[in-house]
Amino acid sequence: MTFEVLTICGSLRKGSSNANLIEAYIRCAPTGISFSSLDTIAALPIYNPDMDVEPMPTVVAETRRKVRAADLLVFSTPEYIHSLPAALKNLLEWLVGDPEFHGKKAVVLHANSSSTFALTELKEVLSTMAAQILDHACVVVDLGSNKLNIDQILQNDEIRASLTRSSNQLVQDLTRPR
Ligand SMILES: Cc1cc2nc3c(=O)[nH]c(=O)nc-3n(C[C@H](O)[C@H](O)[C@H](O)COP(=O)(O)O)c2cc1C
Repeated sequence: MTFEVLTICGSLRKGSSNANLIEAYIRCAPTGISFSSLDTIAALPIYNPDMDVEPMPTVVAETRRKVRAADLLVFSTPEYIHSLPAALKNLLEWLVGDPEFHGKKAVVLHANSSSTFALTELKEVLSTMAAQILDHACVVVDLGSNKLNIDQILQNDEIRASLTRSSNQLVQDLTRPR
């Protein structure tokens, strides 16, 4: 059995440390998980409730379809001005109206142990959206710099062990019946 995991990066920056952390996570994962990354975040219009009606903008419909198809979402985001980056918050505003988001399983990776506002806020927003956060699989690491590439992240034994532990936990959680 293969589980579908959709990764969501809050940074749109080329060479993003959060994107690299997600990629490192994927490389540590056991077989049985198929990962894809949400690539529509930058193309979403600014959320407007007047547009949140059928027919949805094509990119919104595509985004919701990808999120619905996932067994689990893995987030990693930087902190911007003690909060979530606007692009990620915008995505979540587009998703909150989808009844199928209710109960969606989610794991949060966090690349900077001192950026606590973004981590707390993302968990608060996801809980408010009735997502099911798998707290025991969430990972807080300290990359120390946003310049590390994927191989450099994986060379850190402690970080690699945390990522491996988390992804193994996912398989157990996804296998367990609701
Ligand atoms: C506009 C902006 C605002 C930021 N605000 C904060 C902040 O409030 N707290 C913080 O710890 N880091 C802040 N940072 C630093 C980023 O969180 C940090 O560089 C992060 O590693 C970027 O992630 P990325 O490498 O995935 O793009 C800010 C960066 C930018 C560009």
